[in-house]
Amino acid sequence: MKHEVVLEADNIARHYYVSRGTFKDPAVVKALDGASFSLQRGKTLAVVGESGCGKSTLARLVTMIEEPTSGVLKIDGVDIANLSPAERRGYHSKVQIVFQDPYGSLNPRQKIGHALEEPLLVNTEKTKAEREKLAREMLDMVGLRPEHYDRYPHMFSGGQRQRIAVARALMLEPEILVLDEPVSALDVSIQAQILNLIAELQERLNLAYLFISHDLSVVHHIADDVMVMYLGVPVESGSRDTVFENPKHPYTQALLSATPVADPFKEKKRIVLKGELPSPMNPPSGCTFHPRCPVVTDVCPKEVPLIRPVGESMVACHVAKP
Ligand SMILES: Nc1ncnc2c1ncn2[C@@H]1O[C@H](COP(=O)(O)OP(=O)(O)OP(=O)(O)O)[C@@H](O)[C@H]1O
Ligand SMILES: [Mg+2]
Repeated sequence: MKHEVVLEADNIARHYYVSRGTFKDPAVVKALDGASFSLQRGKTLAVVGESGCGKSTLARLVTMIEEPTSGVLKIDGVDIANLSPAERRGYHSKVQIVFQDPYGSLNPRQKIGHALEEPLLVNTEKTKAEREKLAREMLDMVGLRPEHYDRYPHMFSGGQRQRIAVARALMLEPEILVLDEPVSALDVSIQAQILNLIAELQERLNLAYLFISHDLSVVHHIADDVMVMYLGVPVESGSRDTVFENPKHPYTQALLSATPVADPFKEKKRIVLKGELPSPMNPPSGCTFHPRCPVVTDVCPKEVPLIRPVGESMVACHVAKP
């Protein structure tokens, strides 16, 4: 079956300039330093990696909250850098985001029904009656009850609030949903319910998901494809099964060795990485993973490894073999 690509990122980067005081040049933080990937209608690309590796930065670029410093981002085949401000608004509604903490993104003084209607009020010409009808239908779609329409955010549990956040993100009928750690703040028992809802909605609405998580068991549950990031760059990407069953990058291997999901029957040696995650303000030379890498060679501190096909995955490593 051929899938339709709804979003394409070609080497997108986002650098931040941080002041170091009056007499010094600002430091550059390469929060994201070149990521290429595509999202397909109805499919989930999961992005994994440790805190600070650039996942939320990537999410902000894809949702057009920030512009890339370099690289090209295409939505439905159109380079969004070439859009007029009016066209941009149309593309904005094609990509919506759900954050980790839905409480922060909901106005405590606004009834849920009105919170759901707000995107329609701002972006469409729909009447009050039409907006209310759509909001009520959406409540039902995310498993909430009609009486919830008139309630305020504090009257909901964490899981319910995340249902509301998903509902709100869907009001403008996006094609792409970016989910930035959508279940990380929830109890494990609630996580599965929300993940199931997210999967059901994808099926029903044919949504493309960019699903960000540091939790590999969650990723294994939800992903079609996986992209592993380290210090602002993707180091491995491929289908979920390929990456989980046959990881090629030593960083992916280390992450998976610490997670009991891949193959519970296979005996695994836990790979413990040396040292701390370096600062993206002062990244190591060559392959930025080399100071922590268990299979480091002479070339690793000298040359940046380009991402290349290794077996069935794409891998950025000098040493990885098919
Ligand atoms: N506006 C900014 N100015 C300067 N540095 C920034 C800015 N936004 C992010 N960074 C830095 O960029 C790096 C990547 O941040 P980002 O929030 O994308 O990481 P993350 O992978 O989402 O982490 P987490 O798992 O903790 O959410 C971090 O080192 C962060 O401090
Ligand atoms: Mg983040």
